[in-house]
Amino acid sequence: MDERTKITVPRLQQMKQEGRPITMLTAYDYPTALLVDRAGIDVILVGDSLGMVVLGYESTLPVTMDEMIHHCKAVRRGAHYALLVGDMPFMSYQSEVYEAVKNAGRFLKEAGMDAVKLEGGRDYVPVVEAIVRAGIPVMGHIGLTPQFIARLGGFKVQGRTAQAARALLEDAKALEAAGCFALVLEAIPDRVAARITEAVRIPTIGIGAGPHCDGQVLVTHDLIGLFDRFVPRFVKQYTNIARQISEALAQYRREVLDGTFPGPEHRFTIKDEEWEAFEG
Ligand code: KIV
Repeated sequence: MDERTKITVPRLQQMKQEGRPITMLTAYDYPTALLVDRAGIDVILVGDSLGMVVLGYESTLPVTMDEMIHHCKAVRRGAHYALLVGDMPFMSYQSEVYEAVKNAGRFLKEAGMDAVKLEGGRDYVPVVEAIVRAGIPVMGHIGLTPQFIARLGGFKVQGRTAQAARALLEDAKALEAAGCFALVLEAIPDRVAARITEAVRIPTIGIGAGPHCDGQVLVTHDLIGLFDRFVPRFVKQYTNIARQISEALAQYRREVLDGTFPGPEHRFTIKDEEWEAFEG
């Protein structure tokens, strides 16, 4: 078996050339990062989806840079092999190129990420170019971009008309030319994703974009059934960890109430002579 080495940006490029599928998952904390990294996943995304699945916000819009950095640092401590990508939150790159570069830099300098991801098409070419010029690898994200939910009018599949599909293809090419090293394609028809994947030399990583992308990404909390406020159609739930946790918590409560926990194996003892001396 090959000795495991850290995944790098050039390695992802090579995987596309070799036709080796790229695996990517989210993690927001140390224990999940450990598990995802141990599972051999190539890329860990500290996604701004953390706003919804771990912080309980209604959308990703309230997530701040400081929250992202806090979670990225925890993930960094747990993951040793996966390429680590920090997601730039809403309004950390949309207002000014200078702010965008400064914020992107924080992900590498303070949080130990290897790269950043940002949502948006060709309007964001100047931002991507400036961040890449600063030496920071950028992953693009087009299709359903949750930070633009107000403009998109909801969590809807994108690129379903010829015109919209053409616009996505143009966005993908523009982001590649701007220097993105990979592209997330979210919630777009499978044939459109396949066409984009053929048209660019950088890897595409799909979520709800069909099987013809160079890789796949899911939100880990969706895959393990830990977030059930809503489950998008493109999610495959591999387990229902929420049910298992609920059963364990209910059993703990029952056992405390009926006195079966703690049992003899969970208690500490004191020697008889010490006890007698203590009782005096
Ligand atoms: O924030 C996130 O988790 C994402 C993935 C869904 C790609 O952007």
